[in-house]
Amino acid sequence: MPMKILAIETSCDETAAAVVTIAGKKPHLNSSVVYSQIREHQKTGGIVPEVASRVHVSHIARVVGSALKNAKVTLNKIDYIAVTSAPGLTGSLLVGTSAAKTFAMTTGLPIIPVNHLEGHMYSNFINEENKKNTFLFPAVVLLVSGGHTSLVLMKDHGKYKTLGYTVDDAVGEAFDKVAKILDLGYPGGPAVSKLAQGFVGKERYKLPRPMIDTGDFKFSFSGIKTAVLYAWQKEKSKTIKNKQAMAYAFEQAVVDVLVSKTMMAAKKYKAETVSICGGVAANKRLREQLGEEIKNQLSTVSYVIPQIQFCGDNAAMIAMAAAYRLMNGKKVLKKTDLSFPVLSNKDL
Ligand code: KG4
Ligand code: ZN
Repeated sequence: MPMKILAIETSCDETAAAVVTIAGKKPHLNSSVVYSQIREHQKTGGIVPEVASRVHVSHIARVVGSALKNAKVTLNKIDYIAVTSAPGLTGSLLVGTSAAKTFAMTTGLPIIPVNHLEGHMYSNFINEENKKNTFLFPAVVLLVSGGHTSLVLMKDHGKYKTLGYTVDDAVGEAFDKVAKILDLGYPGGPAVSKLAQGFVGKERYKLPRPMIDTGDFKFSFSGIKTAVLYAWQKEKSKTIKNKQAMAYAFEQAVVDVLVSKTMMAAKKYKAETVSICGGVAANKRLREQLGEEIKNQLSTVSYVIPQIQFCGDNAAMIAMAAAYRLMNGKKVLKKTDLSFPVLSNKDL
């Protein structure tokens, strides 16, 4: 009997729902709906948590309804409800978990709380049937988002070891702050990246590659951001061309560090797969440069990257994480147990 999962994700500024079916060996994505709050947060140049929660409240019912409709199912055809329970903004998480608990109470369905970071890891398993490369274990996964930056060793489904993480800013956060310095608006990552792509000519700025030679898997990005700030304050000619040069220099410095540490981890742990996930995994230069290094240095390793639309927050990845947990026989909450907490900070 195929099993259907309805998943809800509201940990930050995307209101999302998705439906996945487990039939046979691979879960299949039936629908994925994301309402992005970009417009609401552009007014303030960043996320105001209280605003994010209120926008989730306004959109959650419609988004869940659309996900069910697009999957051509009604709630009575669903077998499990999955929901992001940590980490994230507390108020935002509460909207999604309250909706999920309400659905569970009214239908009697079991509920599966999912860690948001585990969800990002599973963005690599969405539409697996269409992927060129297979996800094999052990895998080294670079998790790069607005709130987190870490290297994770994934030994099997549900088995993770964090190898290292950022000691200060997350890489997405650094992109967003550099976008502010360069006056590029919100969200910053895509804007910096787009500007950098237009750069041609000689490099004008030299930026540090923090912690690139420390021999461990820790990262630091606040220094690069400060270096950008000082260099830009000193710059007398703030032309578009120079802005492009700065965006390029910043992106290249960050990508060099990320790629170097990921390659080091892949070699040390004899990874069968190297993978990336999280919002910054949409970055073209990162995707390409890591792919090149793997081709040149680890040609037998499988390089698996998520489709662009599943790099940022979405509920399809939450449904996939829940699906693999079910398929691997992990315990799911009992029907009556709705007391799981919402946690603003929780590692894998
Ligand atoms: O995973 P995500 O949607 O949310 C969190 O869980 O944090 O990641 C959002 C982050 C933001 O900081 C955004 O600027 C960054 O991902 N981002 C990018 C790109 N697209 C999104 N950073 C660099 N290049 C991109 N193309
Ligand atoms: Zn995320």
